[in-house]
Amino acid sequence: MSTLHIINHPLIQHKLTYIRNKNTGTKDFRELVDEVATLMAFEITRDMPLEEIEIETPVSTAKSKILSGKKIGIVPILRAGLGMVDGILKLIPAAKVGHVGLYRDPETLKPVEYYVKLPSDVEERDFIVVDPMLATGGSAIDAIQSIKQRGAKNIKFMCLVASPQGVEAVQEAHPDVDIYVAALDEKLNDHGYIVPGLGDAGDRLFGTK
Ligand code: PRP
Ligand code: URA
Repeated sequence: MSTLHIINHPLIQHKLTYIRNKNTGTKDFRELVDEVATLMAFEITRDMPLEEIEIETPVSTAKSKILSGKKIGIVPILRAGLGMVDGILKLIPAAKVGHVGLYRDPETLKPVEYYVKLPSDVEERDFIVVDPMLATGGSAIDAIQSIKQRGAKNIKFMCLVASPQGVEAVQEAHPDVDIYVAALDEKLNDHGYIVPGLGDAGDRLFGTK
């Protein structure tokens, strides 16, 4: 079964409070999402494998460690996932970035896929799928399925705010995918919005309504 990791570092919780606040404008919202993505990337990479190599410092030879695992692919779910990409790239600048385009049909709440483009060496990478919101779970489930179909094997899912239903749905559909969240909220409302949540992440990031 996949593990739910709640990353409740004080800096993340502090910034998330401003992200949730409806009076936070687009510029600050975007900057805060970017900062939280960087902080979360620090945790999500904690289990990266290392290997020891020998180097020469200016003083002597030394055994020292470097990353040894597969390279990373970051896959934002369009549109709102885009807001988290640069923050992760600050820590993993060599990562390649794929995209999965999905939107929720406002009537059915079901995801509609309109675009997929992944790095060509998909089988040689570990993937982090990112989206600020995990509500019903439909978008994350479809996006993960889509990249699995194209050869991705080792996948983590990272979001800012999740609902209990969304977590359960993703865990059931993809028991091999660990989920990393900054907050696990109370519930979904009748429109499929997370409560208390932060509203429509895409609209708040891009200033649309
Ligand atoms: C939002 C959000 C997720 C999805 C979550 O995207 O960014 O992708 O809803 O909901 P779910 O878990 O119920 O599927 P939206 O469809 O509003 O598209 P956008 O990113 O283009 O704003
Ligand atoms: N998508 C959002 O942007 N916000 C929610 O609360 C649920 C889905």
